Amino acid sequence: MSEQSRSEGNGKATAVEGKNSLTVTDNRTGKTYDIEIKDGTVRAMDFRQIKVDDDDFGLMTYDPGFTNTASCRSAITYIDGERGILQHRGIPIEELCEKSTYLEVAYLLIHGHLPTQKELDGWVYEITHHTYVHENMKSFMQGFRHDAHPMGMLLASVGALSTFYPEAKNIDDEEQQHLAAVRLIAKMPTLAAFAYRHSLGLPYVYPDNDLSYAGNLLSMLFKMAEPRYEPDPRLEKALDTLFILHADHEQNCSAAAVRVVGSSRVDPYTAIAAGVAGLYGPLHGGANVAVLKMLQRIGKVENIPDFLETVKQGKERLMGFGHRVYKNYDPRARIIKSHVDEVLEVTGKNSPWLEIAVELEKRALDDEYFTSRKLYPNVDFYSGLIYEALGIPTDAFTVMFAIPRTSGWIAQWLEMLHDPELKIARPRQIYTGELNQRYVPIEERG
Ligand code: CMC
Repeated sequence: MSEQSRSEGNGKATAVEGKNSLTVTDNRTGKTYDIEIKDGTVRAMDFRQIKVDDDDFGLMTYDPGFTNTASCRSAITYIDGERGILQHRGIPIEELCEKSTYLEVAYLLIHGHLPTQKELDGWVYEITHHTYVHENMKSFMQGFRHDAHPMGMLLASVGALSTFYPEAKNIDDEEQQHLAAVRLIAKMPTLAAFAYRHSLGLPYVYPDNDLSYAGNLLSMLFKMAEPRYEPDPRLEKALDTLFILHADHEQNCSAAAVRVVGSSRVDPYTAIAAGVAGLYGPLHGGANVAVLKMLQRIGKVENIPDFLETVKQGKERLMGFGHRVYKNYDPRARIIKSHVDEVLEVTGKNSPWLEIAVELEKRALDDEYFTSRKLYPNVDFYSGLIYEALGIPTDAFTVMFAIPRTSGWIAQWLEMLHDPELKIARPRQIYTGELNQRYVPIEERG
């Protein structure tokens, strides 16, 4: 079976027929057990009954990095990693990028269906009118050092939002759930832009509610002395497409963090801050930064063979390549790649790194090391080049990823809240330390 999101019902992904069970013989005791297989999955708890004697705790499963463990049932995002397919609520990403807008996709992820015109108008209106943040939030951000990393500032400020909206702690109240969703999607660009302007020592720009979601972000990032910032519609469209591509990606590190932290029934702002924290890392959302730094280090096309050699020797990784789920070209990378030239054309910039990236991709896809490990470009391989062309400093790239991923995190958080099987996340461990040691007084310690 290909490596894919398991889907339930309709026989879409896993046909479950006949006697669906696994017969396991414990060779320690000779006992045999029948374990139910449902949706191509066995329940880890069904193994607990397998014991050598009554004192035995029972068999556990061990899965570092959750490489083969489904932690939830989800109807939000479907990925078929072998075939390079990504769908949100069953709609292919290619179609969404072509026909939809980011805010419509956010609605789709959160509500489970495409909005009617009236629903969409209401949704866009609400989000547009919640973009302002409390003035104290501005002072809070001004307290950071001049060289604070924008992602660190975003992480802290999203967490701080929970102190401004204590009523959001009523997580079972549907009105509060909705308000938190709207506020988070609306305020994330404002916080991200404030963090970006802070890192440049520039005054913060307030939201312009007459602009689109992407246009307003461009205004908050780049407006200087002009009375009104007019975003280029082509850049607005490219950014909106980039946002659609980053909206959700099922149970990745940050979505899992939102669910794990959210399972403690903490408020949504704090749960989403956990998602921002997960995204910060270079193996997740921080990879777009790592890609640009890597391209800069390579410096010129002639250095690519040497660089690939160091990767193959295991001394470093080819950033923007490889994915836990995709064992084929990441469909998001394909769409992003098609926008790089267009953005460079509008900005009139000539990216020295694009040529290196294109050649690096070509050579890696021709190389047995990468093909045998099914390593293909992922979403981050080309996104950094677009951000750079837009004039965004490298350190702020991950912040650009966090803005659209917020809708995915909220959808995951809401789905988790309504899951009848929800339990606080609490993994087990295999204890490998000592037991029953004597406490040695400090004067006796060597
Ligand atoms: N460059 C070189 N070798 C790699 C790479 C890479 N980017 N990724 C995986 N490999 C090799 C790895 O060394 C291993 O080889 P071997 O079998 O000889 O030991 C094999 O491929 C399997 O790697 P893995 O680490 O077991 O794979 P994983 O599923 O745990 O890691 C990953 C997935 C995304 C963390 C990894 O591919 C990686 O580090 N990529 C670079 C970082 C990156 O681009 N991250 C962005 C991911 S997409 C955006 C997002 O969702 O956040």
